[in-house]
Amino acid sequence: MKKNVRKAIIAGNWKMNKTRPEAKALLTELAPMVADVKDVEVIACVPFTNLETAIEATKGTNIKIGAQNCHFEKSGAFTGEISADMLVEMGVEYVVLGHSERRQYFGETDETVNKRTKAALAAGLKPIVCVGELLWERECDITEEVIARQIKLDFYSLTSEDIKKCVIAYEPVWAIGTGKTATAEQAQEVCAFIRGCLAKQYGEDTAEAVTIQYGGSMNAGNAAELVSKVDVDGGLIGGASLKAPDFTAIVKAAENG
Ligand code: PGA
Repeated sequence: MKKNVRKAIIAGNWKMNKTRPEAKALLTELAPMVADVKDVEVIACVPFTNLETAIEATKGTNIKIGAQNCHFEKSGAFTGEISADMLVEMGVEYVVLGHSERRQYFGETDETVNKRTKAALAAGLKPIVCVGELLWERECDITEEVIARQIKLDFYSLTSEDIKKCVIAYEPVWAIGTGKTATAEQAQEVCAFIRGCLAKQYGEDTAEAVTIQYGGSMNAGNAAELVSKVDVDGGLIGGASLKAPDFTAIVKAAENG
């Protein structure tokens, strides 16, 4: 029950959207809208091709920039991949890892999410690690088993210090891009369960220090209720992060949450 020890984080996950001029326009519109926000970390996780533009466009603002994946090796014969060091060198601070779309469409496994998380931490990036159950897993009443397994595997061999640098995004797969948001109660239930898993593994103090976001059709209309829950420390926002006024409304809701 120590929400006040954690900084709320609202991160936009732009997915495969926006050309460079469009990225510049969106961030230029957003920056003044969130300029007076103090208690919420505002992040835009943009496509690799937009990173340089985004970093440039947000210089001197309170918007941080993240990538949407990184590889676990430092360098080598991995065509099409980007290393954590390459991102750090550009000025990137955050990286989304294990997003359900990566797991679903690109064969991402808990093992590679674990390797990527360790590589990101070693390079100095802050990972936003996504976990969440499929609809049929929820219907089979195994949500907690699925989440507990992901937390154990994705964070395997991380120390307390490591885990405190991570953000966890609880994203029920059935709520992503579907317009079907989890109820605030469902989000709270699973975010609290995640915190309980962390407490068992790392102790209460560490568990209380970790920011746990909700993600999945979060928007200007439902954000306030979701972030009012004690274990929901913000959100990972897909569709609604592509419009500055909508994203700003979510950030403001988190400020009051
Ligand atoms: P959505 O996406 O907000 O469009 O549902 C969330 C996410 O995939 O992170």
